[in-house]
Amino acid sequence: METRILIVDDDPFICSQLEGLYRAQGYIVESATEAPLALAKLGEHDYSLVLVDLKIPGTDGLSLTREIRDRWQDIDVIMITGYASIRGAVDAIRLGASDYITKPFQNEEILIATDKVLEKRRLLDEIQYLRGQLADRYSFANMVSRNPRMHDIFSQLDALAQNDATVLLTGESGTGKELCARAIHYQGKRKAGKFVPINCAAFPDTLLESELFGYERGAFTGAVHDRVGKIELSSGGTLFLDEIESISLNMQLKLLRVLEEREIERLGGNRRIKVNMRVIAATNVDLDALVANGSMREDFYYRVNVVPIRIPPLRDRIEDVPLLVAEFLRNSPLAQDKGISRVSNRALQQLMGYPWAGNVRELGNVLERSILRTSGPVIKDIDLPGGDAKKSSEASSRRGFDYEVPLKEFLRRAEKDYLGHVLRKYRGGINSSAKHALVDAATLHRKMKSYGLRREEFRMRGAKADQPIFQIAAPPHSTQH
Ligand SMILES: Nc1ncnc2c1ncn2[C@@H]1O[C@H](COP(=O)(O)OP(=O)(O)O)[C@@H](O)[C@H]1O
Ligand SMILES: [Mg+2]
Repeated sequence: METRILIVDDDPFICSQLEGLYRAQGYIVESATEAPLALAKLGEHDYSLVLVDLKIPGTDGLSLTREIRDRWQDIDVIMITGYASIRGAVDAIRLGASDYITKPFQNEEILIATDKVLEKRRLLDEIQYLRGQLADRYSFANMVSRNPRMHDIFSQLDALAQNDATVLLTGESGTGKELCARAIHYQGKRKAGKFVPINCAAFPDTLLESELFGYERGAFTGAVHDRVGKIELSSGGTLFLDEIESISLNMQLKLLRVLEEREIERLGGNRRIKVNMRVIAATNVDLDALVANGSMREDFYYRVNVVPIRIPPLRDRIEDVPLLVAEFLRNSPLAQDKGISRVSNRALQQLMGYPWAGNVRELGNVLERSILRTSGPVIKDIDLPGGDAKKSSEASSRRGFDYEVPLKEFLRRAEKDYLGHVLRKYRGGINSSAKHALVDAATLHRKMKSYGLRREEFRMRGAKADQPIFQIAAPPHSTQH
């Protein structure tokens, strides 16, 4: 690309001297003998460099320099001064001029100063460009990754933002499903509408229905006002159905109708209301299995599973850990306050060797704890959950699990035992227990309900402290050894 230079000097002799000099070097060069003319020219073409005489009629070179720096940050200014006004030159630099030259000057001086300024500009442009490239390569919306599969997902999300297809996000808890859903919404043409998330596991059936559909006054006892449901709210925007595996068969049917007809009726109402929302669903279970065992309607499954996207767990893209750590520290106000900017190599090794069952969310929690405990600019000490895993696994083997039962039942029992342990530890505190387990409070509630665990049982100090909540009865024949 050609480099265009403007000379602003009221002395026509200097102008033509410089023009000749620059032209001989292959630059495109023009001159202006006063400030307004100079500004007009700057507005017309893209200049790289302006040489400004400190003393020009109408205004002074300093004001002109200031104005150029304000309006065109990517144009460099070199100030030309007489011997007497070295002070003016210093002021010019302070105002953003890149260099100054004193009169009378040698041609050589001019060319060296010009080269220096333009070269620095070129480097700055290149750094900017490379930064942009890096950001593009490694991030999409608020997500970062250097994993090729994730990059495929980023471009898929980018494409999906441009249409209205129903998307099913699958992946373990904490892998970034909600983040992906938001990315689709906010990168797309629906961003003017609302992004409305609803965690389907957080509500029992009847409540879920009124959350989704809304109700009219008098629909049931307690319905004293009309209330707009989440579906209506998301009209024009995006409805994010999280944890869809927990939707009952009955509600699946109702939702299926909405997805097909794009119309709803509020509870207790008799008006059909048109809705126009995009649907994104998420789950951390294998829906095929639910269809196979009859707990998910096949027609509902097909309605939702139009564009499936499977987000890999963090342990399958462990190269993302350093990037996520950097991103987390950059975004953590506490880390900023404490001036923490990185983790030690040893700590990073630890983080990269951990299986991350709770994925990116768990990584965030672990870092948050470490930031709290760190003083100084580097996190050296990482406190990974399961530091006492050995102890607790010994404890569970002492409890004598029953290996004779089917896997599913075995897992149920283990989960119940785990939840009992955690709830006891936090004396029935739901938020702390949920945090410990890396599930959200609603999920914890749902699981407690399904296992018949009541928080009251855990409230009392030291209640049943050392006893497991339930004792798996070992089958009689195996107790003999
Ligand atoms: N690729 C990523 N880059 C940066 N942060 C991420 C990424 N993936 C997940 N997170 C963060 O991890 C946490 C969990 O993500 P979320 O979307 O809620 O997961 P999920 O819905 O799958 O449980 C959030 O705080 C989110 O911002
Ligand atoms: Mg989620």
